[in-house]
Amino acid sequence: MNFSSLKLAYFSPTGTTKKVLEAIAEGIGIEPVEHLSVTSTNTAMKPLGNFTDELVVIGAPVYAGRLPEDAVKRFKHFRAQGTRAILVVVYGNRDYEDSLLELTDLSRELGFIPVASAAFIGEHSFSTKDVPIATGRPDKKDLEKAVAFGLTIKQRISDLGSLDTTVSLKVPGNFPYKTRMPPIEGAARTLASVCTTCGTCAEVCPKGAIKVNTTVETDPNLCIKCCACVKECPTQARIMDIPFVRKIAAWLNENYTHRKEPELFP
Ligand SMILES: Cc1cc2nc3c(=O)[nH]c(=O)nc-3n(C[C@H](O)[C@H](O)[C@H](O)COP(=O)(O)O)c2cc1C
Repeated sequence: MNFSSLKLAYFSPTGTTKKVLEAIAEGIGIEPVEHLSVTSTNTAMKPLGNFTDELVVIGAPVYAGRLPEDAVKRFKHFRAQGTRAILVVVYGNRDYEDSLLELTDLSRELGFIPVASAAFIGEHSFSTKDVPIATGRPDKKDLEKAVAFGLTIKQRISDLGSLDTTVSLKVPGNFPYKTRMPPIEGAARTLASVCTTCGTCAEVCPKGAIKVNTTVETDPNLCIKCCACVKECPTQARIMDIPFVRKIAAWLNENYTHRKEPELFP
């Protein structure tokens, strides 16, 4: 089967999903590669067009064992007509539970034909220097696996049109999916003493929850605790110190130290 291009479609507030998708693309080797990020509110509102004869890699992080609600809402702007898709979730070394199944089902609902899928590990959004969780992942070893996964797909590309490959993709997970966790109250906040009001936090916020003028205002009802603002702040002025989030981070740091490895379902 011939593909006109490779598209990477993703929601990736802290960039680990994007990194994994780029490594997979390197292995697949189809040019040109086009990015369709639905991470920012601007792109989320834009109609994203129809997919036809390209190969698409769709990626999202795992939030409480599911896909982030905003990723689902934004992916729902996609329309495909039998377009072959590779589905990828990235999680913070705890578990991905029903998220890969949810992404596979969603892709079918939108008209894609899932041909391969994978779960990779990324540094946990709640990870800090003091409470590390999967720090630095995806690392070199993960990215090598992602490139190799892409190469496997490349080798199978000529078969991707066959019915057998298209109907047999099975991924772990249960339906009905795990009940979503109720929203966590609060938001990341700014340490005014080190903040330069540069606006990076507002730029990277996937919800448009942050307004920067002479001070930084964050709408706690919009904040999804993705920690993009915390990780991207050039002066470390943004901190995530919601007690419940810190409690989860401490629990993860204590109980999920064992390194998980990517799982591939080619
Ligand atoms: C609200 C929230 C919930 C999360 N839930 C999970 C989870 O259930 N399991 C897990 O292993 N990681 C979980 N994570 C960690 C992310 O899946 C992980 O950090 C991922 O690499 C982030 O992707 P991104 O860099 O593309 O934003 C969660 C992160 C956030 C912000």
